[in-house]
This record gives sequence, structure tokens and C-alpha cells, in this order.
Amino acid sequence: MLEQSILSNLVNIATNILLSLCQIRHVFGVWIVLLLFSCDQLEKKETFKIGFSQCVSNDAWRRAMHEEMARELSFYPELSLEIKDARGNNELQIRQIREFLGEGIDLLVVSPNESDPLTPVVEEAFQSGIPVIIVDRKINSNLYSAYVGGDNYEIGFTAGQYIRNLLDNKGDLLEIWGLKGSSPAKERNRGLMEALEGSDIRIVAELEGEWEKDTARVRMRDYLEKKEHVPFDLIFGHNDVMAIGAYEICRDVGLRHKKFVGVDALPGKLGGIQAITDGVLHASFIYPTGGDKAIEVAKKILFGEVYEKENILQTAAVDSSNVRIMKQQTDKILDQQANIIRQREMINNQVELYQSQRGLLMIFGITLFVAIASLAYVFKSLKEKQEINKELKYKNQEILEQQEKLLEYSRQAEEVTRYKLEFFTNISHEFRTPLTLIQGPVEELLDRKDTGQFKSDLLLIKKNTLRLLRLVNQLMDFRKIDNGKMQVRASLQPIVPFLEEIMSAFRKTAKDQQVHFKLICDAPNLKVWIDPSMMDKVMFNLLSNAFKLIPRKGHIHLHVSEDPVRHEVVIKVEDNGPGMDVSELGHIFDRFYQAKPGERKTGTGLGLALSKELVELHHGTITVSSDPGENTTFEVRLKLGNVHFDSHELVTDLSESAYLHLDQESFFRDETDIHAARKDLAETGPRILVVEDDLEIRSYLKIKLEELYEVLETDNPDTALAMVHDCVPDLITCDLMLKDKNGLDLVRKLKSDPKTSYIPIIAISAMASQEDRLAGIKMGVDDYFTKPFSISLVLERIRVLLEERKKLKEHYLHELPVMEPTARDTHEQTEKKFALAFKALVEENVSNPDFGVQEICSELGLSKGQLYRKTKSALGYSVNDYINKVRLKKARYLLLNDKSAIADIAFQVGFRTGAYFSTAFKMAFGITPSEFRDRAYPDGF
Ligand code: FRU
Repeated sequence: MLEQSILSNLVNIATNILLSLCQIRHVFGVWIVLLLFSCDQLEKKETFKIGFSQCVSNDAWRRAMHEEMARELSFYPELSLEIKDARGNNELQIRQIREFLGEGIDLLVVSPNESDPLTPVVEEAFQSGIPVIIVDRKINSNLYSAYVGGDNYEIGFTAGQYIRNLLDNKGDLLEIWGLKGSSPAKERNRGLMEALEGSDIRIVAELEGEWEKDTARVRMRDYLEKKEHVPFDLIFGHNDVMAIGAYEICRDVGLRHKKFVGVDALPGKLGGIQAITDGVLHASFIYPTGGDKAIEVAKKILFGEVYEKENILQTAAVDSSNVRIMKQQTDKILDQQANIIRQREMINNQVELYQSQRGLLMIFGITLFVAIASLAYVFKSLKEKQEINKELKYKNQEILEQQEKLLEYSRQAEEVTRYKLEFFTNISHEFRTPLTLIQGPVEELLDRKDTGQFKSDLLLIKKNTLRLLRLVNQLMDFRKIDNGKMQVRASLQPIVPFLEEIMSAFRKTAKDQQVHFKLICDAPNLKVWIDPSMMDKVMFNLLSNAFKLIPRKGHIHLHVSEDPVRHEVVIKVEDNGPGMDVSELGHIFDRFYQAKPGERKTGTGLGLALSKELVELHHGTITVSSDPGENTTFEVRLKLGNVHFDSHELVTDLSESAYLHLDQESFFRDETDIHAARKDLAETGPRILVVEDDLEIRSYLKIKLEELYEVLETDNPDTALAMVHDCVPDLITCDLMLKDKNGLDLVRKLKSDPKTSYIPIIAISAMASQEDRLAGIKMGVDDYFTKPFSISLVLERIRVLLEERKKLKEHYLHELPVMEPTARDTHEQTEKKFALAFKALVEENVSNPDFGVQEICSELGLSKGQLYRKTKSALGYSVNDYINKVRLKKARYLLLNDKSAIADIAFQVGFRTGAYFSTAFKMAFGITPSEFRDRAYPDGF
């Protein structure tokens, strides 16, 4: 209980934590979602690729342009830039622009090398839908998105005005052109020319410097080297580098004093501002690269913002008057730009740091989330498990209850089965006497010559009676097994003779059916501890089954062998009958199992089940295998030696074992024997004396009793008394209210006379008072019925009383009274005399095989009926039974004391053949004569 409450508290706490965690989890979950979402957004932000087709990039002005672009781009991480350098080659630039278009750029920036050749490809790009920004140099078309660059005309014009001022409106000027096909060169020239209009300044020479210092130097040198070259006062280069180149050449030829003016005014060591500071150039005009502006415009276009199409950059003149301040400013700008780059790098580092930390945070967040989710899951599982456990417990309980119920049902079923079996067995038991009584007359009828026409019917009756008797016996055996009363009495038996004995019972059938029936054995001297009566049933059953199904000319073989490995004897009954299929094989040993109709005639399904039980009582096994239509083999395996039996299961006393195995089944096997046995039994069945003066009741009782017993009747007690002495009835029914005399007197006389006191008396009387009953019982009446009585009750009571009497007699007649007639020792002297005369006669004739009832009757002058009755009364045995037992007992004596051959002994005791003697001896003693002698004299007689 305590543990339960602690557990439930823990569960409550865990549930609360779980709920709180669930709430936290919600908040945390939202945060995680936002985090993931924001990351997702950042990562999903659209990126744009800008392709920049640069006409040339090997000079400082272009490098400055690229740096500005890079700086500006650092503010827009979503923009990426790729520069392709055409190295001043128009064709190459056209090709590179096409490459950009093929690569799928989002925006094209072009600084065309020359206008005319580049115009078509730029128009094409623009018309394909890609925004195009023209920087620095122009094309001859308006088909572009935006232009970024200085006003080259204005630069040219401003430079012209400056030169006019510098030369005081007169002088000679040498102009060094940029690339003639490029728009800045053309516009700067146009501006210059227009500014110089109206002055006396004339252009004495125009050199093509193509925007490059080296080219300008070459052209300058060439010009000066020409003899007829016109002297000049001032050189105007379309850019600073060409002007500086020209200065350097002039300086080398002593023309340093000439004036040099350029364009660009770049900051830095090699820039125009430094050249002015150094006195190389007289002046320069700022021409911004527009790199930052170009990126800014590109961004606006790509982001869909408003932008200017023409972005003209401002220019300004730089000369000695402002160069200092300009230099300071540009140096500062350069510093600041360097600073910006540094900061940009720092920001980048921070961003990287942030991103890595954000990654870590995400991992942490996810881990935390997973941990919390796992925790929640664990708690949830715990709760579910508890629920499931509860459910399971409940189900277990249910199952247990069901199990209990099932057990109860099975107990009840067992009980019912037991009752049924008991009932069945009892009923079967009841069948024995009537069956026996049927058997006797049938055999008698079969013996009679005048019943020839009914012989087949009689044989059928006989056969089926025997079958029923066997079934009854089997059922009773089952009952014994079930009650644990079937006890093995094992003795050491030579297995081959034992089997041969059993086989002998089937020889005739085998011969009739032309069945090849033989025993195949590789261990003829093998001895096995068995209960002969049980194994007899097993083997008899297996053989009779085989014979039931064997086709004509088939074969039934018994194989006996020793399995040395398992230390067992193996007995196989193999036949080539129809066999069984697998489903049948599985049930063949089940009690009451019967094959499907039409498949196999296996009888009631008792024999094999009983055989199995009997083999198992021997700790052996019985199995079957079958190849339908080919062969069927039953295999019995019995352990050798006797250690597997309990000591009380072993019989070592020879004579005991001989008697123990006398069993009813054996009696039924040999038809001759059966005949004799039944004949006796029929004629010596129980005799009942009915003493009744009411004619109707007497007749009624007689009719009913005659169905089962021999009935004597009288209405007179005196006659009754005489009849009792003469006929020795087995039971008397007596009316106590007789006309002349009191029936009670008769009872008193009979019960007080020791010669008759053993005879059971059933009183049937109209006297119903308590006192009358008491008087009757006091007198020794065995039962008391008042009129009107139930005949079935009376019959039942008679049966039970006779049965009890029989058992009692069997109990006292355990040993055969050869010399002394022990039964009925209370009989009259005449009965004793009869017994002695009878015994002497039998002993005299024991060697005569023809000696029997007929001979005795004529010798003693008795009718058959009298003889049977007197013999039964005096000796407790039937005539043939007695003779048979005398013969066998004498045989046993001779076997022990006479060296004669067994066949001779058989002859001496009245058996015609050794085989029949052997069978009868074995039936009586459970052992063959030769074994009997072998055991008595193991070392030879
Ligand atoms: C650089 C440059 C500059 C000039 C511009 C004209 O390549 O020659 O000096 O101003 O190009 O396009």
C-alpha cells in the first residue's frame, strides 16, 4: 500500500512537471519555430548575380572602380559580382557578355571597350530581359537600363577652358587620344574643341594613346623623333596616365617645361593628384569611376526600387591651387575607405561568429527541445505503461478467473466422464452373466446334430457373444487401469515361445485365408520381464486386428529382435493389409476411436487403446507406421531386465505367476475350451427356489426368473424344506404369509440349520408392519419386499446376492481342492460321499482323453443335470473345469517329478496333443510346460 501511494505521488509530481514542461515547451517551441523560421528566411533571401563585363582592368582607374564596387557590395550580401576582363579586345568582350547571358546572370554591367562593336550585344542582352547598366563608356544606343559615369563632354570642355586660361588663349596643343572608338575619347575631344573655339590655340598634333601609358609613350617618342614634328606648348592627354607617359618622354628629351594636362585625378601614389603634387601634371579633371554608384543602381534595379537611368557623375579641376587640399581629402577618403574595409571585415567576422553561435544555439535549442520532448514522452509512456499494466492486471485477473472456470468445467467433465465410465462399466459388467448364459446354450445347440440348418446363425451368435464378452472385459480392464487397480505382475518369460503360443490361436484362420503367417526372429532365446496375461492381450489384439483386415493370401509377420543400444526387445506385427492414412494413425490408440465409415474395420476402438495402456504399464512403447496399401507395422518395445518395475510388480514365485495369469480372455480363445466352459456354466447356472402359495405371483416370479435362472417352485414350506436339501438352491424367495404354515418357520429352520443357513433368502410378503419386517430380519432374511413389489428390484437384489455369494465362494476357493472337497463342507454326508466318489473317478481316468460328463454320469448313475448340480455344490467347480484342473495339476506334478517328455506327460494327463496340452497349461498357469520345467530345473532335469 505504502509503495503504491509513493508511486502514485511520484506519478502526480511527474505529471505536474510534465504539464509545466508542456507549457514551457509551447513557449520554447514557438521560439524555436521563430528561430528556425528566421534562419530559414535569411537563408531563403533571394540572391542576385551581377555580371560585369570590364573592357580592361590593368590600370589604377579600373582597379579603383573594382574596389569601390566591392566596398558597395559589402552592404548587400545578397548581391554577388563576377568580373570578366576583355583586356581591351572587342571580340573577347562580346564573347564574354554572351557567356554571362548563358550563365544566367540577373543583371549585366558593361563598360564597353568601343561603342560600335559592343552596341549590338548589349542591346541583345537588354532585349532578352536582363537589366543592363552601362558604366564609364557608352554604346550607340538607348537600349540599356541605366548609365553611370562622368560627363566626358563636360570634362573635355572644362579642360579646354582651363587650357585657354593657362595658355592665355594662344599656343600649340598636342592632344593624346584615348581609344578612338570609345565614347569618352570622342566626347572629351568634342568638349575640348568646343571650348577652344574662338581662341588662338591650335591643335598641332593628335596621337592615339588608346588610354594606355605605354602606348602614349611610344606614340610620343615616335612623334618627337619625327624631324618635321611641330613643337607644342601643352599636351592634353585624355587621361592622366597617357599625359604622365608623354611627360616622361618629353622629360627625357628636355621638354620638361612643357605643360601637361590629364583627366581622372585619381588619388594614390600613381594617381593624377600625386602627379600634380609632384609637378608632373599641370592639372587634371576628376573623372569618378562610378563603381559604387553602379552597384547602388544595380541594387535598386534588382530590388525593384526606383532608380535614375542617367547617373552623371560630377567632375572638378585639380591643379596646384587646390591639389593640397584635394590630396588631403582624397588621402582621408582612402583612409576611411581602408577603415570601412577593415570594419567590413570585422563585421564579417562578427557575422560569421554570430552565424556559428546561432548554429550552436540552434543545436542547443534542438537538443533541449528533443530532451524536453523525450522527457515528456517518457512521462507519457510511464503513464501509458501504468494504464497498460492496470489493464493487463485486469485482464490477467479475467484470464485467471476463466482458467478457474475452465478447470472447474474440466473437473466437472472429468467427473461426468468418470460417472459415465463407471456406469458404462457397471452396465458392461451386467452384460457378462447374460452373455455367458447366451454362450452356453448356443454352443450346446451348435453341438447338436439337429441344428445343422441354423449353424451359420448360431456361429454368428457365438462369434458376437465372444466379441461382446471381450469388449466387456476390455472395458473392465480400462476401469481397473483408471482406478490404478491394474497391477503388473511381471515374470521372466521366453518371448518366442510366448508369442508362438499366441500365434497358435490364429493358425487355423491363417490357413483358411491362405495368409502367410510366421514369426521371424533373430533372438530365439530372449527372455523378457512381462505380465503374460497383459502381453497376451496386447499381442492377441494386434494379431486379431491384423487378421481382420488382411486380404486373402496376404502376409502377417511377427518380428522379434533385440535392440542392444536401447536395451529393448522389439516386437513388430507387420501386415500388408489396407493400412491407414496419417490422420488415422494419429488417433489409432485413442480410446473409442473408430476410423471413418467405410475406411477400416477397427472395431470399437478399445483394443488398441487398451494395448497401449498395458504396454505402458510395462514402461514400454507401442507405435504404428503405415504405408497405405503396402504395409502396416505395429511396434512394441519393452525394456530388457526388470529394474524399471517396482519390486511389488515382480513375480519370482513360479507357482504364483502360474496362477496369477489365469484369465478369462484365455478361456475364450480356444474354441474347444470355450465350448466346455460354457456348457458347464449353462447347466450349472444359479438355481432359485420360489416358495409362494399365490399361484399368480409364483407364475409371474417364475417367468421372470426363468429368463436368468433355473427355477424350482412350491407353495408348501415342507416341500420347500425337502427341495432345499435335495436340490441345494442358490437362493430362495419365500412368502412369509403362507396359507397353511407360517413362512417364517421355514426361514427359521433354514437359517438355523448350518447346512442351509448360507442360502440367501428374500422375503416377499403382504405383511408390511414394522414388527413383521423386524421379525423377518431377525430371522436372518437377506432382504424384505412387501407386496406389491417391483420385479426389477427383486431381480436386481437376487443378482446382487448371488454375485456376493459367488465372490465369497471365490474368495474361499482360492486354491484348488484336489484331495479335499472344501466347498459345501456343511453338506450332508451323501454329498461328501459323492464328492469323494467323483474325485476318485476323475483321478482314475485322468489319462483318458475321452473321459468326461457322459462317462461320469454312467459311472455314478446320475443325469447330466444332477451331476452338474452336485459337482457344483460339492466342489464349487463345474465338471469339465474340475477335470481340466485335475489333469493340469497332475501335469504340473509330473513335470516336476517325472522325467518323461512333455508330450508323454500330456498324454498321461489325458491331452491328445502336446500343442493343446501346452495351450491349456499356459492358459491355466500363464506359462508353457517346457518353461515351467526350465524354471524349476534351469540346469536340466
Ligand atoms: C581607364 C581610363 C581612364 C579614362 C577612362 C575612359 O582605363 O583610360 O583613364 O578616364 O578609361 O574610359
